[in-house]
Amino acid sequence: MEIRYRIATETDIPSLAGLRALTRGTVEGWAPYIAGYMEGINNPQKALAPRAVYAAMDDEKVVGWIAGHLTKRLGCDGELQWIDVAPEYRRKGIASELVKLLAGWFAGQNASKICVDPGNDDSRKFYAANGAENLNQHWMYWEDITILVE
Ligand SMILES: CC(C)(COP(=O)(O)OP(=O)(O)OC[C@H]1O[C@@H](n2cnc3c(N)ncnc32)[C@H](O)[C@@H]1OP(=O)(O)O)[C@@H](O)C(=O)NCCC(=O)NCCS
Repeated sequence: MEIRYRIATETDIPSLAGLRALTRGTVEGWAPYIAGYMEGINNPQKALAPRAVYAAMDDEKVVGWIAGHLTKRLGCDGELQWIDVAPEYRRKGIASELVKLLAGWFAGQNASKICVDPGNDDSRKFYAANGAENLNQHWMYWEDITILVE
């Protein structure tokens, strides 16, 4: 299986919302919210305008995605907003590749200190495995995410 990575577009939104809805909420709820995020209309707390969204593809199927933006939140330069991989594609390194891609985008924006709200214990382990540390009781962060860029 060869996974390809590319910038996500508007036509991916139903797939991205479908992946998000596996964890929380509904496709109908997420689709307009993600669309608004991509367009810069929906802004997470203290978000700045620059943002990036990437998709992981198995042939024509979206099997994972990541989104992040520049921010003024928590003293960070950027925030990893969402990351999801389809259950049958997990533990194959796909999310780690997506983090590297986003890290490359952050590097291009001169953003190095990146925060993430892990949301659950599994993702906390995933972020720790990718070099993130605890920022406080809840949030995690990379002091310099650009070291992940190969
Ligand atoms: C968290 C998530 C994105 C990880 O995706 P993934 O593609 O399976 O991650 P990777 O294969 O790159 O994992 C890299 C390493 O992270 C750690 N890791 C990943 N998932 C883990 C889990 N469920 N439990 C413990 N460690 C985990 C492991 O060290 C793993 O390496 P290994 O497989 O060699 O042991 C995926 O489980 C997911 O989509 N979860 C639901 C959505 C979610 O919680 N998103 C984050 C909050 S927005």
